[in-house]
Amino acid sequence: MAYKILVLKGDGIGPEVVGEALQALKVVARRDAVDIEFREAPIGGHAIDAYGKPLPDATLAAARDCDAILLGAVGGPKWDNPKAEMRPEQALLGLRKELGLFANVRPVKSVKEFLPASPLRPDIVNGVDLVVIRELTGGIYYGKPSERRSGADGREAVDTCYYSESEIERVLRYGFELARERRKKLTSVDKANVLSTSRLWREIATEVAARYPDVKCDHQLVDSMAMHLIRRPRDFDVIVTENMFGDILTDEASVLAGSMGLLPSASLGEELNGAGYRIGLYEPIHGSAPDIAGRDEANPLAAILSAALLLEHSLGMRAEAELITQAVEGVVRDGYRTRDLGGGAGVKVVGCKAMGRLVRERIESLEPEA
Ligand code: IPM
Ligand code: MG
Repeated sequence: MAYKILVLKGDGIGPEVVGEALQALKVVARRDAVDIEFREAPIGGHAIDAYGKPLPDATLAAARDCDAILLGAVGGPKWDNPKAEMRPEQALLGLRKELGLFANVRPVKSVKEFLPASPLRPDIVNGVDLVVIRELTGGIYYGKPSERRSGADGREAVDTCYYSESEIERVLRYGFELARERRKKLTSVDKANVLSTSRLWREIATEVAARYPDVKCDHQLVDSMAMHLIRRPRDFDVIVTENMFGDILTDEASVLAGSMGLLPSASLGEELNGAGYRIGLYEPIHGSAPDIAGRDEANPLAAILSAALLLEHSLGMRAEAELITQAVEGVVRDGYRTRDLGGGAGVKVVGCKAMGRLVRERIESLEPEA
C-alpha cells in the first residue's frame, strides 16, 4: 500500500523550498523502493484569493486522508491587514486543531559552521542539542470566549486560557517518551506562581514524572526559563510547555542554532494503531519571505530537514531520515550556503535549486545505515 503525502506549498518561498524537499523525498523513495503517492492542495493567502478561504474544505479533506503533510509557509503582505476577516495563519491553526496535532516538536542543534554568525558567544551555544515540545491545540490560542466587544468602559477584548487534564497529560507523556530516547532530562515550563492552568500543568507534570523515574524532571517558570535558555542552553534536553509559552520560547531557541534556515518542525497527533507512527504536519520554522520569493534565493534546507522528520515520525523510516540529515550536514560542511546563511572564507553561495540538487546528489552517494 502506498503512503499518501499531502504537499501544501503555500505562499512566498513556500513552493520553492517545498519543491526541493519533495525531490529529496522522491530520491529516497526511489532508492528504497518505497511507494509514496504525493498530492497537492492550496493553502494560505493563495487559497484566500482562489477559494475565499485560507483552508478550503477540499484541502482539509485531503489532509484527513493522508499519512503526513509537508507544508512550506503561509502569509505575505498582500494578506496582512489585521482587520481582514480571513488571514493565511488561520489555515495553520485550523489544520492543527482539526487533525489533533497536539505536540509541536522543534529540535534545535547548534551547527559548528554557523557559530561565528550567532549573536551569542560560541562558548555558550557550541554543543547545544535540545528539543522544545510545545502543546499546540489548547491554551489561550483556542479557549472560548475569545472576542472583541464593547463594554461599560468602551472597547474591550477577551481571550481565555483553558486546559483539561488529558490535554496536559498527553503532551507531557510524549515529552517523557522522547526524553527517554535522549539524555533523559525534561524541563517542564509553566507560570505556576500566577496562573491556574499552570498550577494544574505543574501538578500533572509531577504525576507523569513519577511514572518515568529514569528521566530527571525539573520545573521552570517561563520568565526565568527565557533567561536560562540564553545563559546556559546546553543544560537543556527536552523542554515541554503550553501553547503560547512554547510559541515564544521556540523563537528564542531558534537563535541558538545560529540560523533559522536549518530548523525544521513537526506537529504530531496521536499514535496510529500503537505502531509508533503518528499523523504529522512538517514545516520549516521560517516564514514565507515574500521579499525573496521567486528569485531562486531561498534556503531549502529547513524544508528538506522537515521532510526527514516526516520520514521518521509518520512513515517510521529512521534510517532514511538520517540519510537526509547527513546529506544536509555534508553539504553545509563542504561550504555550500544559500545567501541567508552568510558568506565567509571558503564559502560557496548557491541558489535554492542548486542547494536542493547538492543535497540529492549527496543522498545518492551515501549508503543508508542498516
Ligand atoms: C508558529 C507561528 C504561528 C503560531 C502563527 C503563524 C499562527 O508563530 O507556528 O510558531 O503562533 O503558532
Ligand atoms: Mg511562532
